[in-house]
Amino acid sequence: MDKKVTVVGAGHVGATAAQRLAEKGLSDVVLVDIIEGVPQGKALDLMEAAPIEKHDSHLTGANAYEATAGSDIAIITAGIPRKPGMSRDDLISTNAGIVKQVAAQIAKYSPECILIIVSNPLDAMCHVAYEASGFPKNRVIGMAGVLDSARFRSFIAMELNVSVENTHAFVLGGHGDTMVPLPRYSTVAGIPITELMPADRIDALVDRTANGGAEIVGLLKTGSAYYAPASAAVEMAEAILKDKKKILPCAALLEGEYGYNDLFIGVPVKLGAG
Ligand code: APR
Repeated sequence: MDKKVTVVGAGHVGATAAQRLAEKGLSDVVLVDIIEGVPQGKALDLMEAAPIEKHDSHLTGANAYEATAGSDIAIITAGIPRKPGMSRDDLISTNAGIVKQVAAQIAKYSPECILIIVSNPLDAMCHVAYEASGFPKNRVIGMAGVLDSARFRSFIAMELNVSVENTHAFVLGGHGDTMVPLPRYSTVAGIPITELMPADRIDALVDRTANGGAEIVGLLKTGSAYYAPASAAVEMAEAILKDKKKILPCAALLEGEYGYNDLFIGVPVKLGAG
């Protein structure tokens, strides 16, 4: 295929993102992980599903970065996930070291690529990747708002018993306690949910959205969510690969916008090739 996406971290989020990229026919995929055999094994397994899933994406696995050279996008999921009782911020010391090393390697082999950061705590890991890569701010973006908005949309659809396709939602701010779901900009078939639900139900859905990650961690016990996070990262990748210029909530570096400086925060971003 003419597009190439590297996914670093062949764990739950990374492998699922690789699967979605391939099954949507978006790109070839290179899976990278420090564990020998795992990215190679998962890539081969996914390749062997290709005749059934009917895609021609080529998937390879690697423990080093030479194979990632010339990637259009690198999705960084390397790091440790949360366990019950942990906040995303508890991951910072471990994941900062990992993301720093990964971003530097990606930048060395794919100096023109766009980084989509998934590792948590998201906003801080974006900053680490931004500094380690040396990339301009338009090429370092974080996946949080697309996931949080998808969770909010799911809960709105469940509450009103309508198709998820009729829902639209915007969740901005941080990926954690400082998340800001925006009910006034969240709609069903164009109608704000503030006209469709009582305030206490909106508050309940907003609260469930803000704690959406913890709800899954509490159920899984051994790790954190990965199906929806992978979908969200791949929606961002698709917008970039196809130069869709799609407005999505993403973590981006603010330099004076909204009165903030030098912080990665979830804001509306127009995602396309540039
Ligand atoms: N380079 C490459 N891969 C690494 C490195 C590294 N330096 N360090 C760890 N990894 C790999 C691990 O070997 C593991 O396979 O990252 C993978 C992480 O996978 P999981 O443990 O399954 O975690 P996952 O659920 O995928 O979450 C990954 O995404 O959503 C966030 O909070 C989550 O920070 C976490 C990240």
